[in-house]
Amino acid sequence: MNQNTNQYFIDRQSVFESSARSYPRKFPIALAKAKGCWVEDVEGKRYLDFLNGAGTLALGHNNDEVNQAMVDLIQSGAPLHALDIMTPTKEMFLENLFSILPPEFAERAKVQFCSPSGTDATDAAIKLCKTATGRGTVIAFSGGYHGMGHGPMALTGNCTAKNHVQNIMPGVQFMPYPYSYRCPMGIGGEAGTRACIAYLERLLKDPESGVTKPAAIILEPIQGEGGVVPAPVEFLQAVRRIT
Ligand SMILES: Cc1ncc(COP(=O)(O)O)c(C=O)c1O
Repeated sequence: MNQNTNQYFIDRQSVFESSARSYPRKFPIALAKAKGCWVEDVEGKRYLDFLNGAGTLALGHNNDEVNQAMVDLIQSGAPLHALDIMTPTKEMFLENLFSILPPEFAERAKVQFCSPSGTDATDAAIKLCKTATGRGTVIAFSGGYHGMGHGPMALTGNCTAKNHVQNIMPGVQFMPYPYSYRCPMGIGGEAGTRACIAYLERLLKDPESGVTKPAAIILEPIQGEGGVVPAPVEFLQAVRRIT
């Protein structure tokens, strides 16, 4: 088969990779080049890339300065794998990171290097909260997405993947997330938001609610996979107050 076609590479993917794939099922192409916000498939067709690494490529693909920094580091002889042992490169990164954080946040902030993935960040946060509080329950919100690891999947609303994996992390209590268009309370608007706040607050205060005091409440300020649903500011402020 012609090796310059998308179909050739899609077939090769099926030969070598497990069937646990998501984006390729929606985008049956093979990408050969990428620059900025544009990508090009192996057949030479260009696409404006709204995926952008699921939003992680803030500077686009193959940014010249980022690429040059990577090349410089690789050629410098610095260790590229040092477990969590300190290196001058890491110190430089931390200095830079803290210098651009809002000062009042930076004063109290600590970094934990877990791994590059979001699901590991979620997992680390949950372990931290459980360790710090000695509690086990975690409150999450319907429509939320926190990753596909064993723990984060339990905190995620979408049931399709969860239906296939039994005995995922226990102790997760789902709560309604305000969404005016498809209001979980059937009310909508500001009244719907206020109902979500009242329900959360009552559930946590009511000794008969059946929900033990949680180690953490996890939420996205804007639910992504759940449909790009921004939380009203009033709701976020209430959750902050309650926590
Ligand atoms: C809010 C949120 N949390 C966690 C994740 C999981 O990140 P990753 O795919 O890097 O594991 C995502 C990924 O889309 C996300 O949107």
